[in-house]
Amino acid sequence: MIGKTTKLIERIQRLKRDKNAVILAHYYQVPEIQDVADFVGDSLGLSQNALNTNASIIVFAGVHFMAETAKILNPNKKVLIPDLMAGCSLADSCPADKFASFKKMNPDHLVISYINCSAAVKTMSDVICTSSNAITIVESFPKEQKLIFAPDKNLGRYINAKTGRNMLLWDGSCEVHDMIKVEAVIKMKADNPDALLIAHPECKAIILELADYIGSTTGLLNFTEKNSATKFIVATETGILHQMKKTSPYKEFLIVPSDSTCSCNDCPYMKMNTIEKLYNCLKTEIPEITLPEDVIEMAKKPIMRMLELSV
Ligand code: 13P
Ligand code: SF4
Repeated sequence: MIGKTTKLIERIQRLKRDKNAVILAHYYQVPEIQDVADFVGDSLGLSQNALNTNASIIVFAGVHFMAETAKILNPNKKVLIPDLMAGCSLADSCPADKFASFKKMNPDHLVISYINCSAAVKTMSDVICTSSNAITIVESFPKEQKLIFAPDKNLGRYINAKTGRNMLLWDGSCEVHDMIKVEAVIKMKADNPDALLIAHPECKAIILELADYIGSTTGLLNFTEKNSATKFIVATETGILHQMKKTSPYKEFLIVPSDSTCSCNDCPYMKMNTIEKLYNCLKTEIPEITLPEDVIEMAKKPIMRMLELSV
């Protein structure tokens, strides 16, 4: 198995050079994909990298909305994803037709959409945000401006509390972060009084209230590197532990279990991508992300607005 993976990695490296391709990977990808990638990051870092790459082909090792964002930013480049079915439960919790009706019912509101949404929802948004810039984006609007925040109610509630706003929240959430159990967090904190609890803002409010630090995947990673604590209870998807262990090999990381039988919070969509599928898609140049031109044009505006506000 190790020999097979090593061979695939060598072939991927060769194809990458021959085709002038770049591999962008999210922290929730399996370790071998993270290790072969040219850049590993959170949604904001990945978007910024997609915008600035000189490569002819972008292989996006992440979920569909992330690869779609890379395509919107690079309409003339080929954007590939190892598995086209790698979706996102949070993006799926906001169907475009239902969101259009919701927006129509609140015509005096502007729309901030979390990047975990479809291109169709992005076309109906005034600005996009990620978990690392959400506060900055929200605070770029005057206090009296009425706002809709979609689709993540957990992140929306957290940002409302942080900024003193009262944004209207779409009722969506991530199934992976929603499954993280507060009972497990409380027990782990009691068993490990020397550990700090760090959580992604997609977690439920009850978990965020217990956290010592809340941040995007990059925020969580940087916190574990810079903080003097040597033990962390991590409330997010398991993939991030790979970079945490690489960056701080002498620190201890405990993932919060989602229930008593499972100690792994694997995102089933992120984990659809494998090193074999990555190799195949680079070799055959399918599956490719395609979008209608008008959707690209309309969805690009709120994404660019976010990127301009995030420098
Ligand atoms: P980040 O932007 O923090 O990496 O989050 C993306 C995501 O899908 C978390 O579930
Ligand atoms: Fe979507 Fe949740 Fe998976 Fe992130 S962890 S990609 S929000 S389903």
